[in-house]
Amino acid sequence: MLSVRKLFLDIHDNDEAFQLLCTLTAAGRACCGGESERIAALVTDPELAHRITRHGDEENEHARVFHTLLRGRGLEAAQLCADLDYMAQLEERGLGFPHDRLRDDAQTLCEEDVIAYLSRSRVTEQRGAAELRLMQKALAERPEVHRALTSVTRGEARHLAYAQEELLRLADGDRRRSALVRRSLRRTALAEIRVHRDVSLAMMSRMGAILGWSWTRRRLLTFSIRMAYLFERCGGWRRLTSLRMPPPGRRTVLGRPAAAGPRGRR
Ligand SMILES: [Fe+2]
Repeated sequence: MLSVRKLFLDIHDNDEAFQLLCTLTAAGRACCGGESERIAALVTDPELAHRITRHGDEENEHARVFHTLLRGRGLEAAQLCADLDYMAQLEERGLGFPHDRLRDDAQTLCEEDVIAYLSRSRVTEQRGAAELRLMQKALAERPEVHRALTSVTRGEARHLAYAQEELLRLADGDRRRSALVRRSLRRTALAEIRVHRDVSLAMMSRMGAILGWSWTRRRLLTFSIRMAYLFERCGGWRRLTSLRMPPPGRRTVLGRPAAAGPRGRR
């Protein structure tokens, strides 16, 4: 009854639901892409700035993929309500780097700012990669969208590897910075799981209204979202914070090869 495949097929095959899904997915990527250019200009490490810029460019490219899918169906992006705006809600909870400070030309980013920014990337890239993988598998019978999702999903896996790699690089051999990274990741993950629950409930309610879901289906989906949150609150959040260095051949996927990489796994 609650087949993920059927859920995404129903969304795909309805113009209004598809419009909402693509708009939301594009908006998250465009937000990351937009802020990256500004953040890259404010960091003092030129190699990190280069990788942040590359990351932002890829996010903008991914946003364009979803706008192309919309245009292919003769649709425009939908209006995004505040309760569905995942990135804005993360910022409201103080995650990442505040956009009003990005408008301040005078200041460069301090170490804590960079760690907060990369921690949010680490957590949200895993969330994004997992959701896109789910959509990609569910929509295998819709070749055009499946192709686009396959390419974006690969990109999201690269972004996740990049965020982990940068945090490991910062934490390597420095106990104070390592503790800062751990604290920042924990705080980010615990706030993100609440935002993710709230946005998922809002999204479910909107999709239910568009697709005419029965009361039973809505209750079951609400229950699933709340159970997933409970699982994450009781320890599942830790999977959003682990740091693993990619194998040597896949390191520094968004930039020039590092001269010396940090060791091991946290
Ligand atoms: Fe990404």
